[in-house]
Amino acid sequence: MSEKIIMDCDPGHDDAIAMILAGARTSHLEILAVTTVSGNQAVSKNTRNALNVLDIMGKGEIPVSMGASRPLIKEPSFAEEIHGVTGLDGPKLPETPRHHATPHHAADVIIDAVKNSDEPVTIVATGPLTNIATALIRDAKIVQNIKSITIMGGGTFGNWTPTAEFNIWADAEAAQRVFNCGARINVFGLDVTHQVLATDDIIQRFALINNDVAGFVVELLKFFKSTYKTYFDMDGGPIHDACAILYLIKPELFKMQHTHIAIEHHSALTYGTMSVDLNNVTDGEKNAYFAVDVNVEAIWQVMEQLLADYNL
Ligand code: RIB
Ligand code: CA
Repeated sequence: MSEKIIMDCDPGHDDAIAMILAGARTSHLEILAVTTVSGNQAVSKNTRNALNVLDIMGKGEIPVSMGASRPLIKEPSFAEEIHGVTGLDGPKLPETPRHHATPHHAADVIIDAVKNSDEPVTIVATGPLTNIATALIRDAKIVQNIKSITIMGGGTFGNWTPTAEFNIWADAEAAQRVFNCGARINVFGLDVTHQVLATDDIIQRFALINNDVAGFVVELLKFFKSTYKTYFDMDGGPIHDACAILYLIKPELFKMQHTHIAIEHHSALTYGTMSVDLNNVTDGEKNAYFAVDVNVEAIWQVMEQLLADYNL
């Protein structure tokens, strides 16, 4: 029995790895649609990258729909320092993908896919939450057929400001709307993703998997490692977005805590900060499941198994 998912993303090296893991034969996930959002790069570049990644996966039939080119309120911001001018620097990719995006807006695709599904749909969000918030604003009732909104974002510390993580900071108004929607929300923030670093040893393990998709992941991780060394002095790129997908495949890899989460979107100093009430010091409703720990070695073993699926 496979779980139906929509992947809303801004590929982005770790988004691309999340897509690859989700598309593996033994993931038991069915990707209904990929939707793209402004984030790591301009949405046009993120869309081209999503189309190229699906082609490399041999999943060119999965529809890709472009979404928001800017946040709900603030000006767009990109993470070009980390992901490069193409948004997926490192591997050589076609300037013009073999497949085209659909003519539909991501938010409308999300609404239609959720409303028309015969079973509840999981929305996996690995970029800013602009498209998800837009879909909820256009049709709040879709919450009734959402199994969960599983997010890479936030955390109890920041990577874009001292207290804010990029995905949440890039559109905090959208994030607050999502956290107030009433759906089950699973959150994979920097507290766990910064434990899952693709160092040289891990890259070498993946390089032993003899197929083109694993080879592509190796190239992605080599570039990602180089920018994380430059900007964060880290010895490996954190596979942030893959954590959201790996939770859906093997939830036992993570320790989750039901808690109250709110997003700051007024203050200039702390805009985009995720307030995670792990010690229950407020009377805020517990509206999310927050990942507080991860079995790192098991993560690598599961990734090796999923990448090996592409041998067939
Ligand atoms: O802060 C990490 C997040 O921002 C990841 O989703 C990465 O792809 C970037 O979008
Ligand atoms: Ca991302």
